Amino acid sequence: MTLNILVTGAGGFIGSHLIRQLYEQGHFVRAVDIKWPFYREIGRCSEKYTLDLRDYRNCELVVEDMDYVFHLAADMGGIGYITSVGADIIFNNTQMTLNLLKASIQSNVTRFFYSSSACVYPLYRQTTENVTGLKESDAFPADPDTYYGWEKLYGEKACAAFSEDYGLSVRIARYHNVYGPYGTFRGGREKAPAALCRKVAAATNPGEITIWGDGKQTRSFLYIQDCVEATIKLMESNYDEPLNIGSDQLISIDELADLIIKISGKKITKKYDVTKPQGVRGRNADITLAKKILGWKPKVSLEEGLRKTYFWVESQLLHHKKIVR
Ligand SMILES: NC(=O)c1ccc[n+]([C@@H]2O[C@H](COP(=O)([O-])OP(=O)(O)OC[C@H]3O[C@@H](n4cnc5c(N)ncnc54)[C@H](O)[C@@H]3O)[C@@H](O)[C@H]2O)c1
Repeated sequence: MTLNILVTGAGGFIGSHLIRQLYEQGHFVRAVDIKWPFYREIGRCSEKYTLDLRDYRNCELVVEDMDYVFHLAADMGGIGYITSVGADIIFNNTQMTLNLLKASIQSNVTRFFYSSSACVYPLYRQTTENVTGLKESDAFPADPDTYYGWEKLYGEKACAAFSEDYGLSVRIARYHNVYGPYGTFRGGREKAPAALCRKVAAATNPGEITIWGDGKQTRSFLYIQDCVEATIKLMESNYDEPLNIGSDQLISIDELADLIIKISGKKITKKYDVTKPQGVRGRNADITLAKKILGWKPKVSLEEGLRKTYFWVESQLLHHKKIVR
């Protein structure tokens, strides 16, 4: 069935990959973002709008005649950004989400996808490196990580309220550290895999890189192709509660750096800056529910995904001749 689909944040990392996939499936895809970064290849789509979704009138305009809305637009970034910005994240993101939910009701949108985050999970479950995977039910009692996490938890509840009161069909993904080519890799909003790829690619050979924190903090990382597949499967499913979309392969940031260094073929030594933000001590995803409900599991190994990411980041640095250490 061909659908009319709106993707917000289509100029962003996940959105740009998602529109390509949806368009190839034959849907009418309306792509919206406030900006379109030069380094990101924007997949083909049916319509492209450059608009600020904090303005309700713009939301009314873009949801018109749409069957599905994938809401991926957000003011967000890696650990450096979300630990230093609170008010703008809360204001910009809640405004966009509420506007789009309301406009979707007015336009009789049939299904609404909300991109939540692993940051909704409570800090008290993420205090050691050797953590068990976070289950969806672990989100309460709530104590999210940063204002960004609180805003995402509120966004989930906003979706639930619009679903209960107005019958809007909602799907909610809790993404855990998605990485891959076309992700933000510099400028202060980049996440650990892209930042480490950039540092290694920009380093001399032999050379040195700096890791934020002591490197012992742990995370799990999901390759973009697996993320897009799970996102579409979730949208097509009957499941309307929050669902983890992530990987359960736990790795320390130090080991992640070692993998990237190995891929680069360079001789790099690591030093540590413990004054930099490093986030929770350990975080992993329990994806039991996603496997059961979506019949999905990640296919791309961390080594393979990092290889593709590293060489893409390296090509960007070479292409633009802006070596940023
Ligand atoms: N990438 C991850 O690892 C990850 C993890 C957890 C949750 N998420 C969530 O998934 C979604 C997509 O993430 P991403 O990595 O693609 O982020 P991204 O920053 O690459 O993309 C977000 C896009 O939203 C756009 N945007 C911001 N403000 C806007 C506005 N006022 N009007 C219109 N567009 C606006 C940005 O320009 C950007 O292109 C976000 O909601 C994010 O919070 C991502």
